[in-house]
Amino acid sequence: MKKLKLQSGDQIPMFGLGTWKSEPGEVYEAVKEAIKVGYRHIDCSPIYGNEKEIGNALSDVFKEGIVQREDLWITSKLWCNAHGANRVLPAVESTLRDLQIDYLDLYLIHWPIVLKPEVLYPEKGSDLLSLAQVPLLDTWKGMQDIHSKGLSKNIGVSNFSIKKIKHLIEGSGVTPSVNQIEMHPYLPQVQMNEFAQENNIVLTAYSPLGSFDRLPQFKRADEPNLFKDIVVNKIAEKHKSSPAQVLIKWAIDRNTVVIPKSVNKNRIKQNLEATKLKLDKEDMNAIDNVGIDYRFLDGSIWAIPDSPYTIENLWDE
Ligand code: A2P
Repeated sequence: MKKLKLQSGDQIPMFGLGTWKSEPGEVYEAVKEAIKVGYRHIDCSPIYGNEKEIGNALSDVFKEGIVQREDLWITSKLWCNAHGANRVLPAVESTLRDLQIDYLDLYLIHWPIVLKPEVLYPEKGSDLLSLAQVPLLDTWKGMQDIHSKGLSKNIGVSNFSIKKIKHLIEGSGVTPSVNQIEMHPYLPQVQMNEFAQENNIVLTAYSPLGSFDRLPQFKRADEPNLFKDIVVNKIAEKHKSSPAQVLIKWAIDRNTVVIPKSVNKNRIKQNLEATKLKLDKEDMNAIDNVGIDYRFLDGSIWAIPDSPYTIENLWDE
């Protein structure tokens, strides 16, 4: 499996299993199956509500001798209600307990958004705290502390704009090793890609298939469907592959890490096989010129009345 080198010298597998929306009752089998067929990278977060089941799957694959801990790349994330220099340590310790491992390969600040400690998702503006109240640099300091304790081999961010990453670098001298962001042909993140390359930051593409299984309240009725995209389908037909495989290989060929989610045995295997697909220049150009701009996760859950966050100040666009 192809890998990308991070600033630490560690190599992150370019293909991994996403676990957002994988229900606790199905994620155990999904993770086990994925590792059995050859996945070596699992992307997690406590807010997905399934880290305990993933921990059971990891514990069993280790016990059964299918792989060892050092064969796997495991990422998790700091949820928004645990920002602040001193709150990162208990959060990562809880995730490590749930995952039944003693270190992460990568730990990310999940969003540049702060929630009050007792809140998981905001229902009203007062559930949120501003970045003036809890500065990102304080949280970044907490991330550096858990890194120096060896609890995560690498640290990074997710859903950060160029402006916010620059702020971290300028304020701390420490560059995040990864930024995990929504990325697919409708949101190719061209500027972010250039910035990441210049700064030796690896990008991971989340929702690479458009996250069609999001809860209805997070979907717009008129949103486009990547699986039905004419250009993607034509290329899939040409290579006797599926649209999902084309989307996965497009991400890898752009030198980004990609973490499609599936809990279905056949699709778990099919997605891994996408890494062998050979897209040519013409295919890549056609996808790059697909002509639709769309962000599936626009951040509107944070931009509620009286929240310090707006769509504009979240993405800095
Ligand atoms: P399932 O878990 O039943 O396979 P994303 O990674 O962008 O969040 O997308 C995940 C969605 O895409 C889920 O609904 C998942 O369903 C579906 N999916 C994953 N792999 C494939 C595939 N190869 N073909 C079709 N749908 C897929």
